[in-house]
Amino acid sequence: MTRLFKDIDLLPSKEEKEACELAKVSLDQDTGKQRKLYIESYGCQMNYSDSEIVTSVMQDNGFDTTSKPDLADVIFLNTCSIRDNAEQKVWKRLKEFQILKRKNPELTVGILGCMAERLKTKFLEKEKIVDLVAGPDAYRDLPKLINQVDEGSKAVNVFLSREETYADITPVRLNSNGVSAFISIMRGCDNMCSFCVVPYTRGRERSRDVHSILVEANDLFQKGFREVTLLGQNVDSYKWQSEDQKENVNFAQLLELVARVNPMLRVRFSTSHPKDITDDVLYTIKKYDNICNYIHLPAQSGNDRILELMNRTYTRSWYLDRIEAINRIIGADCGISTDIITGFCSETEEEHQDTLSLMEQVRYHFAYMFSYSERPGTPAAKKLIDDVPEEIKKRRLNDIIEVQARTSLSRNQEEIGKVHQVLIEGYSKKSQQQLMGRNTQNTVVVFDKGNYQIGQYVDVMIENCTRGTLLGKVIEN
Ligand code: SAH
Ligand code: SF4
Ligand code: F3S
Repeated sequence: MTRLFKDIDLLPSKEEKEACELAKVSLDQDTGKQRKLYIESYGCQMNYSDSEIVTSVMQDNGFDTTSKPDLADVIFLNTCSIRDNAEQKVWKRLKEFQILKRKNPELTVGILGCMAERLKTKFLEKEKIVDLVAGPDAYRDLPKLINQVDEGSKAVNVFLSREETYADITPVRLNSNGVSAFISIMRGCDNMCSFCVVPYTRGRERSRDVHSILVEANDLFQKGFREVTLLGQNVDSYKWQSEDQKENVNFAQLLELVARVNPMLRVRFSTSHPKDITDDVLYTIKKYDNICNYIHLPAQSGNDRILELMNRTYTRSWYLDRIEAINRIIGADCGISTDIITGFCSETEEEHQDTLSLMEQVRYHFAYMFSYSERPGTPAAKKLIDDVPEEIKKRRLNDIIEVQARTSLSRNQEEIGKVHQVLIEGYSKKSQQQLMGRNTQNTVVVFDKGNYQIGQYVDVMIENCTRGTLLGKVIEN
């Protein structure tokens, strides 16, 4: 540990400092390389982060990037399997690319990510236009796979590794606002939530070398980034040991090390697991002003029987105890968000009510809400019956959306009249005359542009709100 802190002391200390939609490459890069890559990402932040690794590997092997699929020599779809509708989007997209392939038979189409891992060679059988299939741990192999396709054969690598963390690969930032970036700190998942496909598509959990994480955070800061989000399916189980076993780092320690890169670099992280989040992590958040007061702590359900069927390994009261610890240690204004699944196997109306009451009790700032989608091969698909009718799932989903809309609005109304520090990320969606950024709780704040710059911190007095946004004006100190 001592050595790690020394590394940090060498870093400059006084320098200034989003479930599940499609992202196209916004990086048009022309450095005169031979071929062009177009990449499209679906699913979670980890997949987006992986696309940045893929782009780096491809750039080192003769590719520039393009944001226009019709100009590409290679098209990659980095796919998600979490729910059936995520997979349907990809099948639909492939049909669209069929037209491009007809126009340009030289075009290579590759499927990457979780669907590639789940369906493996089925892609080659089902969709003739797919030339290449690469799972989440096979991205170093992409140049070789592309060569195979160039030589006329189909190429597949869906091997899952126990070690791969891509620690030494510098991601090429895609869709970047130049202010916030993701840093992947671990891969895979060792939990066995019965509904979830991730352990099968991403393999065993492994933590990335702490030194490479710190180098990446420091490099981002030097390049002008002011916020990093540390990513993992269950960040609280981050655990890294050096080969000589002299350095051991857990998540609370990692968080502290990243916070010390620079006080002007905001630090966020996702996802926390209720069974693993420790008081140490909460005290570390409290100790550093630049670690954001925001925790994504998915509950999934508010009912103990359903939580057990989901194999989440905590109870409602355990979950509420963690919420109490967050409020006590960090403060009652800490932003908390959740994921909820409605209509899980055999969920009754009363059990659904328990979820609603949990939401009322916690008063989440945000929630990502889904109706249950059975995933082939998962423990729930093997052992439980997906017996809640679709229309009931939908109605329950509407119930929770309604509770959340009300809570988000009332949470935001409580902020009117208060001053929030905001890191400016870009222009507001609605007007070029307004800027947007986030407060520490991760709520979007919109205000008049004035002479303020993207990447700058400003204090904003909140004057009004909607359920998704705080509106205000900058206060000059
Ligand atoms: N590692 C994170 C979750 C990653 S998946 C965690 O443990 O919280 C993101 C969210 O998708 C999950 O939290 C869950 O709410 C949802 N999800 C996962 N599998 C699902 C399924 N089969 N049907 C519906 N929603 C699902
Ligand atoms: Fe899936 Fe559970 Fe792992 Fe999250 S913790 S990725 S829900 S198995
Ligand atoms: Fe989807 Fe894979 Fe992420 S299934 S949610 S892209 S880990």
